[in-house]
Amino acid sequence: MLDLEDFQTRRYRLRRLTPDDASRRYLSWFSDDGAEHIVSATRMRQLDDLRDYIRTKAACDDVLFLGIFRVSDGVHIGNVKFEPLDPVKGYAVVGILVGDSDSRGQGVAGEVLTGCAEWLKTRLSIGQFVLGVDETNAAAIRAYEKTGFKVCKTEFLPKTEPGVLTMKWSF
Ligand SMILES: CC(C)(COP(=O)(O)OP(=O)(O)OC[C@H]1O[C@@H](n2cnc3c(N)ncnc32)[C@H](O)[C@@H]1OP(=O)(O)O)[C@@H](O)C(=O)NCCC(=O)NCCS
Repeated sequence: MLDLEDFQTRRYRLRRLTPDDASRRYLSWFSDDGAEHIVSATRMRQLDDLRDYIRTKAACDDVLFLGIFRVSDGVHIGNVKFEPLDPVKGYAVVGILVGDSDSRGQGVAGEVLTGCAEWLKTRLSIGQFVLGVDETNAAAIRAYEKTGFKVCKTEFLPKTEPGVLTMKWSF
């Protein structure tokens, strides 16, 4: 497992998820509005599914799966996952979920991804994030563009489903 400490942005604390973070609130994200954009949503039916998922990700050496917790009250509002995270090639494939629908549209994604970029650059010499996004998910594309991502092909995500755009941010 990658040995990395927790860190904080202005409004959010980022730390590795543990099976104890599986909560009813976290589970509810997968049946709320926006769940159609979450690849793993149909597999998350009960708390044990969440626990198993967290354990599986924690056991992978090339995965970093972090919870996003509000600094003001400690509430878990979303997750960010780097899978894979490749310090040799200097890139990570990123996925972010602002699961708490009330927290969307407040710039969480930009603040968290910018904080992660600075942190992973210093710790692991990561200099590029790539991601795949549904071409109809305008809010997500907007959030990524504001952060610095550009739509373009990338050797790190060579095969994508039809309707999925690839985006890249070098920092
Ligand atoms: C997509 C997502 C990651 C964006 O993160 P965010 O922190 O909400 O992003 P922002 O606050 O920068 O908002 C981005 C855009 O979303 C739109 N938006 C505004 N309020 C919103 C709300 N309440 N709900 C959804 N979208 C909203 C706006 O177009 C906004 O752009 P603008 O600030 O220029 O007006 C997040 O909303 C989310 O996780 N959604 C559900 C799952 C999902 O789509 N995941 C991404 C899969 S690739």
